[in-house]
Amino acid sequence: MSRRKIVAGNWKMNKNNNDALQLIRDILATNLPRDIHTVLALPSIYLKNGVDMLKHIFGIDVAAQNCHQEQSGAFTGEISAPMLSSISVPYVVIGHSERRQYFYENNEQLAQKVDAALANGLQPIFCCGESLDIRKSGDHVIYVSEQIRESLFHLSDDKWANIIIAYEPIWAIGTGETASPGQAQEMHAALRSMIGIEKSADIADNLSILYGGSVKSTNAADIFRGADVDGALVGGASLDAGGFLEIVDALAQS
Ligand code: PGA
Repeated sequence: MSRRKIVAGNWKMNKNNNDALQLIRDILATNLPRDIHTVLALPSIYLKNGVDMLKHIFGIDVAAQNCHQEQSGAFTGEISAPMLSSISVPYVVIGHSERRQYFYENNEQLAQKVDAALANGLQPIFCCGESLDIRKSGDHVIYVSEQIRESLFHLSDDKWANIIIAYEPIWAIGTGETASPGQAQEMHAALRSMIGIEKSADIADNLSILYGGSVKSTNAADIFRGADVDGALVGGASLDAGGFLEIVDALAQS
């Protein structure tokens, strides 16, 4: 798969059933640009309805927000990749910083989740990003590169076609503070170059790298100007159909 332009909305733990289904309907009622791939990372309880509502609609799909690394078993409360696959969910967010922070997910476990997702035909949207302390220390590129090496570098070359990376600096998530377009582009270019050198130029060129962290309609166009920014993972601003559409439009026009 070649490099794609993607806007993924991460709904996190928001919306009740009626409001969630209404938001999907509202998003479908907008004029989403068809050359952008739009993904809605829904709470798992709404995934089946989401899949059914979107199955005949081109260019918009759902994602799960997490999956367990094991295929099945005694893991109360968890959802496996085969379960997601059995209801035709095409994407899964893996390694979001909230999962790393509140559920102690580490790079090694995330590598296993990536494997479980790929083995079941799901495309991982793999999240990485540094804390404010690491950013201030100046080691942010080294830190994020290591997250990618430890969770993705075991993959054989052919698997990379199904990987999407989302760079989300923790200090910019839900804080209203966005990385500047320059900071986003710097990290994306550094990651692409590192992957190009240590894996292959082909993998690096074809990889979609999304930016996440307080992306909204007012800053999206600036962020998308970065040559290595292929789209966005959007939290808060994805909960409103109009604002979300404006972000997708900004990417279409970039
Ligand atoms: P935010 O969240 O857009 O609300 O900062 C982004 C994310 O956590 O994916």
